[in-house]
Amino acid sequence: MRTPIVAGNWKMNKTVEDARALVSEMVPNLSKVNGVEKVLCPTFVSIVAVSNLLEGTEIGLGAQNMHWEENGAFTGEVSPVMVSEFCQYVIIGHSERRAYFAETDETVNKKVKAAQAIGLIPIVCVGESLEENKAGETAVIVTNQILEGLKELDPALAPKVVVAYEPIWAIGTGLTATPEDANAVVKDVIRPALARLYGKETAQAIRVQYGGSVKGDNALDFFSQPDIDGALVGGAALKADDFIKIAQAAAG
Ligand code: 13P
Repeated sequence: MRTPIVAGNWKMNKTVEDARALVSEMVPNLSKVNGVEKVLCPTFVSIVAVSNLLEGTEIGLGAQNMHWEENGAFTGEVSPVMVSEFCQYVIIGHSERRAYFAETDETVNKKVKAAQAIGLIPIVCVGESLEENKAGETAVIVTNQILEGLKELDPALAPKVVVAYEPIWAIGTGLTATPEDANAVVKDVIRPALARLYGKETAQAIRVQYGGSVKGDNALDFFSQPDIDGALVGGAALKADDFIKIAQAAAG
């Protein structure tokens, strides 16, 4: 049995003051959603404030990125040990980081290993572009992202990875993959690639989220699919009601 996980990726939105207001609005009802792992991923500057507000709740906190080195001359970066002071999760390899900040499968792999070494749960994003999708390359692209990004993990920790399947063309566009198509990619591409690395049992244990224009009113369609174990939510995670509705949908 895989516990569903619903994570809100706030991206570059919300000041600290806005973050406090949103979390305060969310916590009472989000806390009542049982049987689902709930995670908020604000910007780095809001992490401490959000951490304080989440204390004593069962809502997890995640960063949106991190460096793989422990410390040193890496201006502007934040290290795994710093993230782990406040967070339990970290998003790694989001398509926006791959597209705008030169993230590669190689850096993803270093970050995933560093996250696991310090006890963080990495939420690793994979997904194809519109051109790749149209060219019928989804399986090849996503398989490669899994095989390269998640290779050589400690086999004991591999089951704890969370994968987010986010077709790039569905992010922030209002377009979604059909729930059946998204499920097929998870079932026929992502889990087989995970099985190649860590065996069938681990591939079945790893949670795989869908991401890309998930909203309160379409979340249940995705969560009804047998291989989709929750969502990585962008825009709708910035609205308390919508995010709570998504978490409730995951609770079934
Ligand atoms: P949207 O939900 O805004 O499409 O964003 C999805 C996403 O990129 C989450 O990481």
